This record gives sequence, C-alpha cells and structure tokens, in this order.
Amino acid sequence: ENTRTYLIGGNWKSNGTIASLEKLIGEFNGAGPIPANAEVVVGVPAIHIPICLMQLRDDIEIAAQDCSLTGCGAYTGEIAASQLKDMGVTWVILGHSERREGFGMAGEDNELVAKKTKKALEEGLKVMLCIGEKKEEREAGTTMDICAAQLKAVADVLSAEDWANVSNEPVWAIGTGLTATPEMAQETHSQIRQWMSDNVSADVASAVRIQYGGSMKGANAEGLLSQADIDGGLIGGASLTLDFFKCIESVP
Ligand code: G3P
Repeated sequence: ENTRTYLIGGNWKSNGTIASLEKLIGEFNGAGPIPANAEVVVGVPAIHIPICLMQLRDDIEIAAQDCSLTGCGAYTGEIAASQLKDMGVTWVILGHSERREGFGMAGEDNELVAKKTKKALEEGLKVMLCIGEKKEEREAGTTMDICAAQLKAVADVLSAEDWANVSNEPVWAIGTGLTATPEMAQETHSQIRQWMSDNVSADVASAVRIQYGGSMKGANAEGLLSQADIDGGLIGGASLTLDFFKCIESVP
C-alpha cells in the first residue's frame, strides 16, 4: 500500500507584482484541502517571502529559490540561509538549471551547488536539489553521466543522513511544454535512485523523494505521479495558477 508523502513544489521563479501576488494568494487560500499524503512547498521570489509568510495558507511551506554560501556579514546583496530560517522559510531550491546556466553570466557549477546544499542543511533548511540534463545531453545518451556528476558533487560533501530531496528536471522540458513522458521520467528516476543506492546508501535511496520537474501540469501530473520512482513534482508555470492544485490533487 502506498504510504509515501508526495512533495509537490511550486517555483514562481522571478515573477509577480504585489497585485498579482495578492490575487494568487487569495486563489490559493480559497482552493481545496491538500491531500494528507501531499506536502506542498512554493518557491517564492525573495522579495515576496514576507508577504507569503504572513498571508499564504499555513499548509503550504515557503521555499527560497537560492541562498548564499556565506553566512551573515559583509556580503552585500547576499541572503544567508540563517536569515531565511529566521524568517520562517523552511526550504530552499538549489542548483536549478536556470542558476546553473547563469542567465548569460557565470552560472553555478556542481561544486558550488554542493557547498550551498551543505550550508543550507547546516542552517536547518530543507533542500530541493535540482539536477538534470539538457536536450542535447539526453539525445547524446549522457543523461545519467550528467545527473551522476551533479549528484556526486553533493554526495562528496554530505553524510548519508543529510540527504536532501532530489528534484530531477530534464532541462529540455522546462518551460517548453515538452514534458518527459511518464515512462521516460520513470526510467531516469529509477536510474537516479539506483545511483543513490550504489553511491550513498540503500536506506537513503529508498527514502529520498525524487521530484519530476519540467512542464508538469494538471493534465499530465497523474500520469507522472503514478510512476514508481516519481515522488513529487517541481512545477514552474502551472504553479502560478490554480492548475497547481490540479497537480496537488493528482497524487495517488
Ligand atoms: O523548477 C521547476 C521549473 O523549472 C519547471 O518549469 O514551467 O516547465 O513547469 P515549468
């Protein structure tokens, strides 16, 4: 019998105004109950975190979309994991492909993502660690090489009991409407879980929740979430609308 708690993450990315945020919060607060076997976290732009902590329904946790490697101090512009924790933020999304790509500037490499993951966990935040391959990497058959390198960098700095949730996001599916088929996603997720078992521990591999991200919508969420090794989702576009609740309600 399926006793898993599915982790359904939203990622609002760099979107929203005060007006649109208040409207979305109102819609979410008026939406239906969250199933008992779903845990819901929304990744909010840093500047909107206080409003969401005050106004968004209590059964949705708040994630930052990044945090600094430094702690508090003379680090102008940085946001420390300890400050997020102090505010009541409980999660942080790290290693998102958009941050690894760097928006035309220097992106975050595997080692930096690993160090940030360790720092965030040390400060008491839970981490949605994003990994995933680009279209050309999948087409070249190197998906697991890419994911393994991303995971290894983190495994090299974490102890087994530290292990974060792992969000697998085939980059080519992000924002494109090109969702991986449930079978493709399941195949990669089972390979990720196998890698965890071989390189971290069997216990961690069975406990870690592997979220699928990449154009998950209300219309395809059930097919994805019904797969054996898909334990949740990390949802961008659809999390900016009530379609996010169709995804939440799609947990098995
Ligand atoms: O972090 C999840 C996000 O990258 C997926 O975006 O718009 O394809 O659901 P989207």
